[in-house]
Formats: sequence, C-alpha cells, structure tokens
Amino acid sequence: MEATTITDQEASALLDRAEAVAERAYAPYSGFKVGAVLLAADGSFFEGVNIENAAYGSSLCAERAAVAGAISAGDQDFIAIAVAAAGDGDISPCGACRQVLMEFSPDMRLVTGGPGGVRVEKVSELLPRPFHL
Ligand code: THU
Repeated sequence: MEATTITDQEASALLDRAEAVAERAYAPYSGFKVGAVLLAADGSFFEGVNIENAAYGSSLCAERAAVAGAISAGDQDFIAIAVAAAGDGDISPCGACRQVLMEFSPDMRLVTGGPGGVRVEKVSELLPRPFHL
C-alpha cells in the first residue's frame, strides 16, 4: 500500500479499534486506559496500550508502545495513528508522544475522537518546531 493518507471510513475503523485495544491497558494507578493503533505504509497494524508502573515515571504511553512494536518489527514508515481512551474515547496525545511520532513520519495523520465525530490531523501541525539534532 502506498497511500499517504486515509479515508474517513478507514479513520473511523482505526479509531474504533483503538478504543477496543484500550481495554487491554495496564493502568492501575491512573485508571485511565488508552489504546493506540498505528497503520504503517505497508499496510501493517501495530497496537499499543499504556503500561503504568509503581515507579510512576517508568510508565509508557499507548502511542509510544505502538511505535516500539513497529520499530522492533522493522517498520518505520507510518500513515496514521488512532488514539482513544477506553469509554468515551476522546484524547489528545502528550508532547513526548508527538515528538516521537514526528521522528518517523511527520506527515502521518493523528486520528482521535471529538465532539464532531472523528478528527484527522497531521502530526507535524500538532508539534510546531520539534526538537531536531
Ligand atoms: N497516556 C497515554 O497513554 N497517551 C496519551 O496520549 C496521554 C496519556 C497515559 C499515560 C498514563 O498511563 C495515563 O494515560 C494517564 O496520564
């Protein structure tokens, strides 16, 4: 697959999947379960959930868990990532996750839920002036 973006239908399906994935999160401290589904340029999907820890600072966000799976599998080129919280599903990625997503695919789309339905945004527009070495 060589698509550089996704259709409304694909975005909606990706978001539904992220919401289902969120149920598998390990979030006993915050109680806030997050799921992420990453769509790679070759059509592969990588899922991630937040993984908290008793040493709070060692916790991992769902987005970065999904990226870790993709990079570990040799995939570095992404079309989109959907992020949802369990339940109502509306969430916006933290700054650290935006920086990590920017590292690989600045043009990738971020799919989240919103009052108006599914929201699709370009990651590069959500992190002006990212850090570069
Ligand atoms: N969290 C994510 O997994 N992704 C985000 O974009 C924001 C926050 C997690 C981290 C923590 O486990 C919980 O949500 C509450 O902050």
